[in-house]
Amino acid sequence: MDIARSPSTPDGNPQMADAPPLPAEPPVIRREDYKPFPWRVPTTRLDFALGVEATRVTATLAVEPNPDAEPSSEIRLSGDGLEPASVTVDGHGSNSWRMEGSDLVIPLEQGAHELTIVTQIDPSANSQLMGLYASGGMLCTQCEAEGFRRIAFFPDRPDVLSTYTVRMEGPKRQFPVLLSNGNRTAAGEGGDGNHWAEWHDPWPKPSYLFALVAGDLVARTDTFTTMSGRTVELAIWVRGEDLPRTEHAMESLKKSMKWDEETFGREYDLDVFNIVAVGDFNMGAMENKGLNVFNTKYVLADPETATDGDYDGIEGVIAHEYFHNWSGNRVTCRDWFQLSLKEGFTVLRDQLFSQDMQGEAVNRIEDVRLLRSVQYPEDSGPLAHPIRPDSFREISNFYTATIYNKGAEVIRMMRTMAGPERFRQGTDLYFERHDGEAATCEDFVRAIEDGAGLDLTQFRRWYSQAGTPKVEVELEHDGETATLTLRQTVPPTPGQPDKQPMPIPLKYALFDRATGAHRGEELIVLDGTETQIAFGGFADKPVLSINRGFSAPVSIERDTPVEDLVFLAANDDDSFARYEAMQELIVGHLVAAVGEGFSGDDREAGRAAIGRAMTAILADAGLDDQMRGELMMLPSQTYVAEQLLVADPGRIHAEREALKGWLGQRLEDDLVAMHARASKASDGMDAAARGARKVKTQALVYLAAGNPDLAAQMAAAQYDAATTMTDRQGALMVLAGLPGIERTNKLIEFYNRYRGNALVIDKWFSLQASSLHPEAIAHVKALADHPDFTLKNPNRVRSLYMAFAGNPHAFHDPSGEGYRMIADLILALDPLNAQTAARFVPPLGRWRRIEPGRAALMRAQLERIAATPGLSRDTFEQVTRSLG
Ligand code: PHE
Ligand code: ZN
Repeated sequence: MDIARSPSTPDGNPQMADAPPLPAEPPVIRREDYKPFPWRVPTTRLDFALGVEATRVTATLAVEPNPDAEPSSEIRLSGDGLEPASVTVDGHGSNSWRMEGSDLVIPLEQGAHELTIVTQIDPSANSQLMGLYASGGMLCTQCEAEGFRRIAFFPDRPDVLSTYTVRMEGPKRQFPVLLSNGNRTAAGEGGDGNHWAEWHDPWPKPSYLFALVAGDLVARTDTFTTMSGRTVELAIWVRGEDLPRTEHAMESLKKSMKWDEETFGREYDLDVFNIVAVGDFNMGAMENKGLNVFNTKYVLADPETATDGDYDGIEGVIAHEYFHNWSGNRVTCRDWFQLSLKEGFTVLRDQLFSQDMQGEAVNRIEDVRLLRSVQYPEDSGPLAHPIRPDSFREISNFYTATIYNKGAEVIRMMRTMAGPERFRQGTDLYFERHDGEAATCEDFVRAIEDGAGLDLTQFRRWYSQAGTPKVEVELEHDGETATLTLRQTVPPTPGQPDKQPMPIPLKYALFDRATGAHRGEELIVLDGTETQIAFGGFADKPVLSINRGFSAPVSIERDTPVEDLVFLAANDDDSFARYEAMQELIVGHLVAAVGEGFSGDDREAGRAAIGRAMTAILADAGLDDQMRGELMMLPSQTYVAEQLLVADPGRIHAEREALKGWLGQRLEDDLVAMHARASKASDGMDAAARGARKVKTQALVYLAAGNPDLAAQMAAAQYDAATTMTDRQGALMVLAGLPGIERTNKLIEFYNRYRGNALVIDKWFSLQASSLHPEAIAHVKALADHPDFTLKNPNRVRSLYMAFAGNPHAFHDPSGEGYRMIADLILALDPLNAQTAARFVPPLGRWRRIEPGRAALMRAQLERIAATPGLSRDTFEQVTRSLG
């Protein structure tokens, strides 16, 4: 089973000849065309005879007419690369079926029937990692969104819910562990060294939540007692050697289960909860009912091999998948256009969880940084789509930052407007109303309206309109009165030239310059195009702090005097607003610096203001180091480029590096002192120790730009003294960007130390591919030929090429070589793993926002890809949208 989508012709089926040819272009699927499936499938029985090269699947479906749909005289079952070995209807072999494209169509009279269809698949040939595939000798499945049809013919759509019973049999030596959804109901020995297990999942589910795992695995086990006193057996399954690295994942799981009971009233509903870690995986993890399958990256950790960021990633993703048990599984999606119903809501839930575990301030900043560096560019480019899209060709392309992260922000705004208690009443109502159903975004909005008592009539536009709204903010002062004017525009996006105003909840506060205090935080919902509010009693012009806590996913445009930003960066009591003031100060400077008419004096003045703010941040004894680290961070190159209609990546990079160097020189003593102070902290996992590690690496980043020799020395020392991966990776990251012998020495040392540990070797590839080194392009080319590099493992591909595509100076090399390398990668990867290949198109798709010379080179690469015959649906769609 591979990429072949062509229908095959089983013998003795006369109707095969009539099968229509495949369309030249993958068809567009539209939300408005939704129709319920004519049949229900109350029960599904799957029988697997397991083998790495040949697995035989016998699927038995009980079907009956769906009273809520138009009746049909046939049933259409999706397949992908499958051929039926036999089709049985109500116990009789049938040959009245036909193939239409890759679908199996069986004529069926009204009434209840039993269908049994046998297929055979080759997991070892499955390089797409969708359906049933082999990874390191084990077998596992990935079915979301449309992978189940690569295992069995089925109505592979999320609104067909069925109760599954799964029996699997295979060689016991090869597959000592046999897992599926739900509870294990029976097991036994078969002949010829085989054994078998039967699993039953009592909860009806769509096919995308089906999972099966067979392999030589060991488990860390534990138990959790639910709020109603039931005991749940927990197990995290990994390869034997990885067992010591599963503790953090297990702790995260137990915390998630408890938190969801306390915060959302959600209790787990099976007797077992299994997690399996697999090294070959297209995404982060998958919420299959009772059997989550995870990328090893989001399970395995110990301080020696995982960074603080990796620990947070694991905690967040374990929580995310666990929370899907309610937001996704118990209440699922009617169709894939509703994807944000489960993803946006579940991201919000995992964000709130992480905030509760780690502290709100820093977490919120990190969430916003991700949104602005990934989702904003999506929303302002050719791939912009609403959080509830209207059409797609390939659903895999819509697992985007818009669906996930903007989706979460939209629901967070409802929570902000309702307040947490009323929001909770809304979510309670949602779960109560729709438990066991396949719901829509509209169902969710209505439940929040009814449960929380909000009117969301206009707010629904957030679901239908793409694009990041701009809010222009003006504060005027006259006599004793301060007047705030807010004006919104929503920019045009592909297919949506005209936009309506959307309700935008903005938290704000007015600071008294003299006292450094404000009069209390307020919330205003800007629901028209423009609004004005007047405030009395201000003898002096106050300082405005707005969009506090990032209460709305918009871009604020305002002309704030530099001294006000410096004031807010030092004084704002809202951590996000404080960070934002710092970002605004620096972005403002960089944007002006790459524009026309910026003088040397302007540059000096801009840098001086940033230097003053940064000095205050380094010296502020009231700040914890985690927050200090955030405030010290320069805005990303992408975020700066986002502010410009057309950006010159070379100039932004040069200006940003120069600022870094200037700060590194000006603040050298402070940075060295901070590094020395932080180096004395413990190597524990508490907030103080983590903060110390964060500012240490930040200090090195600035020093590397200001005083490379000193930085190289300090980084090498930090590397040698490191007892955590955070310190070691931070030091190596800095060294990788510097010339000199320490770079080579430490890269070799790192490789030898961790050779064979795939997740750490990924870091080694990544550090070099994202490095500031002038020869980064040559390094990436050499790394592509490294014996440890392979296109077959998505983590490895991303570690080299995603890092490279995000490396502003190497990817945007004026020669266009970076663009060519990414296009070559897409073409080489597309036949093997279309889903992963298509994820490399967006970096090239930004060409419209890049200066004309580079834009032409980027476009030429997109055209070269588009002209290649036999592209996957995934890549075809992304490339044509990007050129469109
Ligand atoms: N549904 C998964 C999640 O968000 C993501 C995923 C999508 C995984 C498609 C695999 C394939 O948790
Ligand atoms: Zn999810």
